[in-house]
Amino acid sequence: MCGIVGYIGFKDVKEIILRGLEKLEYRGYDSAGIAVAYNNNIYICKEKGRIYSLRESIDRSITGYLGIGHTRWATHGEPNKTNSHPHQSSTGRFTLVHNGIIENEEELKNKYLQGVKLNSDTDTEIIVQLIEKFVNEGEPVDLAIRHTMSELKGSYALAIIDKEDMDTLYGAKNKTPLLAGKGDGFNMLSSDAMAMIDYTNLFYEIKDKEFLKVTKDSIEIFTISGEKVTRKPYKADIDTIDTEKGTYPHYMLKEIEEQPFVIRKIISEYTDENGNIKISPDILQDVRSCNKVYIIACGTSYHAGLIGKQFFEKISKKPTEVVIASEFIYNMPLLSEKPMFMFISQSGETADCISVLSKIKDMGYKTLTLTNVKGSTLYREVDHTLLLHAGPEIAVASTKAYTAQIAVLAILASSIDNRVNIDVCKELSIIANVMESLCSDKEKYKSLAEKYLVNSRNCFYIGRSMDYHVCLEASLKLKEISYIQTEGFPAGELKHGTIALIEKNTPVIGIITQEKINLNTRSNIREVEARGAATMIISMKKVSQDTDAIVIDNVNELLSPLVAIIPAQYLAYYAALLKGCDIDKPRNLAKSVTVE
Ligand code: F6R
Repeated sequence: MCGIVGYIGFKDVKEIILRGLEKLEYRGYDSAGIAVAYNNNIYICKEKGRIYSLRESIDRSITGYLGIGHTRWATHGEPNKTNSHPHQSSTGRFTLVHNGIIENEEELKNKYLQGVKLNSDTDTEIIVQLIEKFVNEGEPVDLAIRHTMSELKGSYALAIIDKEDMDTLYGAKNKTPLLAGKGDGFNMLSSDAMAMIDYTNLFYEIKDKEFLKVTKDSIEIFTISGEKVTRKPYKADIDTIDTEKGTYPHYMLKEIEEQPFVIRKIISEYTDENGNIKISPDILQDVRSCNKVYIIACGTSYHAGLIGKQFFEKISKKPTEVVIASEFIYNMPLLSEKPMFMFISQSGETADCISVLSKIKDMGYKTLTLTNVKGSTLYREVDHTLLLHAGPEIAVASTKAYTAQIAVLAILASSIDNRVNIDVCKELSIIANVMESLCSDKEKYKSLAEKYLVNSRNCFYIGRSMDYHVCLEASLKLKEISYIQTEGFPAGELKHGTIALIEKNTPVIGIITQEKINLNTRSNIREVEARGAATMIISMKKVSQDTDAIVIDNVNELLSPLVAIIPAQYLAYYAALLKGCDIDKPRNLAKSVTVE
């Protein structure tokens, strides 16, 4: 979703901001803009669409050392030049970029801005106009910004420039991420460390309702009421190489092929020198002593949670319920006597999960997050965290984070109470090898995608038991990047209605990895075949038949989702590639969904 970058220092700011915005592209956006302070003036350039259009439009002759930039994912008002950020106050004194949503926009307009002409349809413009109004009424700039913060309801990460003080960059945060990056002779602000990592790896965490005053030599953090906050910076261990595509045409392909390494990395992070699983005793104690685990997540992470439930219930006999975060908020299930909450989130910033977390914290329950992003909101605000160690995931469609989530869930489940005799780490290292061999079969996936998917309007993935959960993720992958309408369906349920949608050549992909459901799923495949479907089967060797399109080497059945998803990720990738879709940045989607 929206991303902001700000820089103050000694280098021409244009390229720094543009590169920062490019690093935020993965979050999803539909327009972008930049403001540069120069010669007591502010230069603004905005464009609808991609950052390369913004790059082309920028006046190269402008040079400045203070600037802010923004990628916008439209919420209020259509994606066009007028609505894109930065926005300016009426006199042009203040210029601002904003990530988040202001909920009391109308109320503030009526209360404070009756005579003020607004130029855009955004909620953001209200913020910059309010700051100017309070300054015009005699408040010093920092007070005016803090006063404005106290009036705002909703979420915001802000970077603000005052034309009358070009030595200061202001920032503010509430309920949406903001970090300050500390450099040598320069400082930065951004909603994501990724935008600053080429310049610094030292960051200050900024908390809700905090206000920032940044110069090229200092970063000062204040509470909303103006008290100075003392905080040490932390060092981020992101390798800039990890954020590059290298020789890969797309991040998604790179990330699919990184999965064997991610699994090996997880094994090494979660085992000691004797090969024993290493998870904090406090975490184990809390999970053991709860009487039900509630997994809260969205999208792909929710699908990983469904597999996690199988692990907790089958490996460690711990009752588990998986709830979509946005549903939990307004329709909370009847909770068990001693619940524990487990948040699964690649980004650690998903607003729907954060809302559940704040509700749960008020109720006093124990919380754990599985996330890929150290320092993210869901990382910081819970009792315990388990990192995914997947490395930065840039493509909007999640691949390696999904398998990393499943692997970490398996390790956790097996260390709570291993009633099923399974050496998870040994099985995971077999899985890493099988993943590797699956990754060497790309031509096959490409030709299957060409034969079955490229010219199809819709598609089904069907399976039973664990395979059904993989089907849900497989179908999400295909639909989100190729725009082919795809449903993941329990194979046995089709005949209760949905089979009506099967027509001549409708692609139906069966996933079969479990011995006990093999024959049943195959019968369901024959039922759709009889109605004209073009069927394809992805199976595990021990249950395979000669006609199956993709056969995966045997792995432990319980962990089979980790390998069964790989061909499906490739099929989605190649279907999107052959259709000419924007694979890493599919339409309408954002990587980090920071609005509810
Ligand atoms: C799909 C995808 C999304 C995310 C979802 C939750 O490929 O990436 O469905 O899984 O938006 O995001 P996180 O895991 O960051 O909470």
